Amino acid sequence: MSTVDTQPVIAPLDLAAERAEVGSALGEAVQRVVASGQYVLGPEVASFEQEFARLHGCAHGVGMASGTDALVLGLLALGVKAGDHVLTTPFSFFATAGAIAWIGAVPRFCDVEADSALLDCNAVEAALTDKVTCILPVHLYGQLADMKRLRAIADERKLGLLEDGAQAHMAVRDGIHCGELGDAGTFSFYPTKNLGAIGEGGIVLCQDEDVAQNLRQLRDHGSPGKYVHTRVGTNSRLHAIQAAALNVKLPHLAGWNDRRREVAGRYDEAFASSASVRPLTSVDAKGHVYHQYTVRVQDRERVQKRCMEQGVATGVHYPQPIHLQEAAAEWGYTAGDFPNAEALANEVLCLPVHPFLKDGDVQRVIETLLRVS
Ligand SMILES: Cc1ncc(COP(=O)(O)O)c(C=O)c1O
Repeated sequence: MSTVDTQPVIAPLDLAAERAEVGSALGEAVQRVVASGQYVLGPEVASFEQEFARLHGCAHGVGMASGTDALVLGLLALGVKAGDHVLTTPFSFFATAGAIAWIGAVPRFCDVEADSALLDCNAVEAALTDKVTCILPVHLYGQLADMKRLRAIADERKLGLLEDGAQAHMAVRDGIHCGELGDAGTFSFYPTKNLGAIGEGGIVLCQDEDVAQNLRQLRDHGSPGKYVHTRVGTNSRLHAIQAAALNVKLPHLAGWNDRRREVAGRYDEAFASSASVRPLTSVDAKGHVYHQYTVRVQDRERVQKRCMEQGVATGVHYPQPIHLQEAAAEWGYTAGDFPNAEALANEVLCLPVHPFLKDGDVQRVIETLLRVS
């Protein structure tokens, strides 16, 4: 197509542009860590933990090796045990449910809302049983689930409440961030996230000193001090080089999220009257950080292919709900159990929304999608 011949493909991500904006500070930070000889935990990690927690209104931050470990150790720190049931969404990255099963607990799914793709609190209430010990909402695509309502449900039943904020760095809903109302909130710093490391990384935020202490010990083989082990844990310490990179990028995060919101605002306007391109609902557009800007379209594979032919690369997060994955077979679900999640998996299309898109790119995405859908 001539469009592709003359114009570069608009990609879902532009890490080169991000590096250019951050400049030499990133390389200098890495060099500083190399020269320090302190490669694991240490001052870079401690200062990142403090600042990231502060920005989310949380008292404590405990850096981990990945967002997956943050979920696994977060569940353990809240006292979830093998055999416990944990209520969560079937429409997320597999890690959410995988973390529950990894510790021997059982993922019990509740459907999502059709318009926002967030965990449906009515479905959560309907799924409560005596075996449930924890609720694990996911702040999908960068907007928070209804934490006020989930907090009330958890309090009434004395359940744990762990938030998966892997896609929700600095997102706000009802004035609160991930980690503020839950017993703990987890984040991923996989390089594609709104705040990404230069490798793997994660963190758990919480308000309670005992939970934070638990997390610090769990990430370090249950060790409150050198060669003292009071429980079984693992090695999930955040690397100093990752923390140093995150310290360099963190001051940019608010501006990057603002630009994502600006781009999302233009998409919202452009698709408002379209019958064929239906954006998901933003429950609190000012606090949404648009890790993904997601629309629903019919005949998604054809639309995605035609977008690509015209130089617009899109993503599908996620093409299959977790309960229908092969790995989920033993949890006993079947097609038709969660109609909203299953319909979303067939229809969602995620548009480029990264902060380095130019206005002309945004216009091209809009025109292309309206033309082909
Ligand atoms: C919703 C969700 N939960 C958990 C994770 C796992 O994070 P990580 O890849 O850092 O282990 C991810 C990241 O891909 C995610 O998107």
